[in-house]
Amino acid sequence: MTLSTTDTLAKPGAPAGPGKFRSLLRAMRYLWTRKIIFLAVMILFLIGTIAFISLSVMLGFAVNSLSRSTDPGALLQVVMVMIGLALVAFITYYLGFRLFAGVTQSALFQLRQDLFEHTQELSLRFFDRQPIGELMSRVTNDIDVVTAFFQQPLGTLIMGIFMLMTTLVAMFLLDYRLATIASIAIPLLVGLVCLLARVAGPAFALLQERLADLNGLMEETIAGEKTIIAFRQQDQVSGKQAEVSEAARDTGSRAQILSLVMNPLTILVTNINVALVALTGSIMIIHGTLSIGVLTTFLSLTMLFILPLVTIFANYNFILSASVSAGRIFSIMDEQPDVIDRPGAVELKPVQGHVVFRDVNFSYVPGRQVLKHNSFEALPGQMIGLCGPTGAGKSTIINILTRYYDIDSGVIEIDGQDIYSVTQSSLRKQIGVVLQDPFLFSDTVMNNLKYGREGATDEECIAAAKDANCDEFINRLPDGYHTLLTDGGSNLSQGQRQLLTIARAMVANIRILILDEATSNVDTRTERNIQAAIRKLQAGRTSFVIAHRLSTIRPAQQILVINNGEIVERGTHDEMMKKSGFYYDLYMSQFKGRIAEIIPV
Ligand SMILES: Nc1ncnc2c1ncn2[C@@H]1O[C@H](COP(=O)(O)OP(=O)(O)O)[C@@H](O)[C@H]1O
Ligand SMILES: [Mg+2]
Repeated sequence: MTLSTTDTLAKPGAPAGPGKFRSLLRAMRYLWTRKIIFLAVMILFLIGTIAFISLSVMLGFAVNSLSRSTDPGALLQVVMVMIGLALVAFITYYLGFRLFAGVTQSALFQLRQDLFEHTQELSLRFFDRQPIGELMSRVTNDIDVVTAFFQQPLGTLIMGIFMLMTTLVAMFLLDYRLATIASIAIPLLVGLVCLLARVAGPAFALLQERLADLNGLMEETIAGEKTIIAFRQQDQVSGKQAEVSEAARDTGSRAQILSLVMNPLTILVTNINVALVALTGSIMIIHGTLSIGVLTTFLSLTMLFILPLVTIFANYNFILSASVSAGRIFSIMDEQPDVIDRPGAVELKPVQGHVVFRDVNFSYVPGRQVLKHNSFEALPGQMIGLCGPTGAGKSTIINILTRYYDIDSGVIEIDGQDIYSVTQSSLRKQIGVVLQDPFLFSDTVMNNLKYGREGATDEECIAAAKDANCDEFINRLPDGYHTLLTDGGSNLSQGQRQLLTIARAMVANIRILILDEATSNVDTRTERNIQAAIRKLQAGRTSFVIAHRLSTIRPAQQILVINNGEIVERGTHDEMMKKSGFYYDLYMSQFKGRIAEIIPV
């Protein structure tokens, strides 16, 4: 098995080391999805920035020309050029940002698409390791955080970096001595950023974790509302909610104070820097080595090049949380599916339904063997009953037949084809599954039936619905077959949902059928209804029926009694009843239970 770590979604503690922003850079690589436009944006930003910087240079020219002569003509010329430059800067930035919006949306689209496609490929083992609710809330949260970062500060930050670079170049070209003085502020400001990273960073990471807790709790509460009301737990839940919410509030204010005090600090550093440049410049002017114009330009540039740093500062928490979120998104995307098609896997040829298990061993987690030396054979068209105590391994046998999980050793064959030599999709296409909790999509009844097989026609679906005793209740629904099932079918009864999944399995028209406790959650009358539908479904198909009530599997040609992962007994109902073994005891205990229900002692 190729499991990487058990803690797939690393908790967002303070990410350490220089790799802190690696995930964010990796996310930014998605901007490259639209290469040409991205390059155009960069070129526009560059032109805009140069025009912007030139404005400061022109300001110096204006001052110089004023100090030399009072000719309004020369000044007017300079002013015209400045207005021109301002217009160029405006237009290029405007175009740049407009195009950038498209680039970011494409990048985000691709990122979401990749993530979604990847989760579809992941094996069930991955989902076993974390509660689906938490995974969902994390993924949606993380995508939101990265999206917000891409939409808001990213463009400004990229522009800021251009500005910083261009300003520095301009300064050194104008006067390297003054440029050196002006640059003194850079290490100071970088130091402040690092300080913020050390102090506020972990606080923000913690805040994000607290918010994720809060979201998780809210989701669970809303999803479990019925149970909460039934158990009159509203007060307790509200209390817990308040507790988690308060924790988020406290962490939030701590993080925010830390980042906000950085603002006045930056302003202080900037002002000192401007004062230093002014002082040095004035001395140089007195010594005749600098013109007033160049000093004016410098003062304006000094203010300018602090701006991007302030932006980085102001968005530091954004950058940090986006990079934590990106890290978690990529940790899912880097997760390798452990159930994969073998090289050279072929399509499973249409089967008759001859299933063979030979000495199969299996464990979900290494070291804890769940199935031990399972061997059995199901002939085409046979009904195989599986029974045994809860946790014996019945559902597990099904999980490995459908290759939701890979076995440790042994052989599983269908019609003589090893299931490991065929593709997963061709295997699953030929196995129909009806589970205890019927799963329906939030779609129309018809589309839910069509889900059974690609290309199924309306007529086929209606015929299957009739066979499965669904037709009648479907026709009573407001829009018949076109009724939209809300929230996975919560507008149907449990029994009706189960009948629909049976109809869906009929539409699929496959040779191998699995029914796992399909009638466990319904009343006896509905059970009879479902049983009748199931019997029709079973005709001519190999079926594996897991049932708690042994009466359900009584007609099976072969019953496998599973205990603790081993097949401890097998045979028909009559054969095993004569043996007075495990099955007999199981049957008698249920039988006595039934009698006790009817004739209370
Ligand atoms: N996804 C899983 N991860 C780890 N252990 C599991 C998983 N599913 C089931 N098990 C364990 O495997 C054993 C058999 O479970 P299962 O096949 O579901 O029993 P049942 O006979 O009731 O259907 C149980 O001990 C159960 O705890
Ligand atoms: Mg089970």
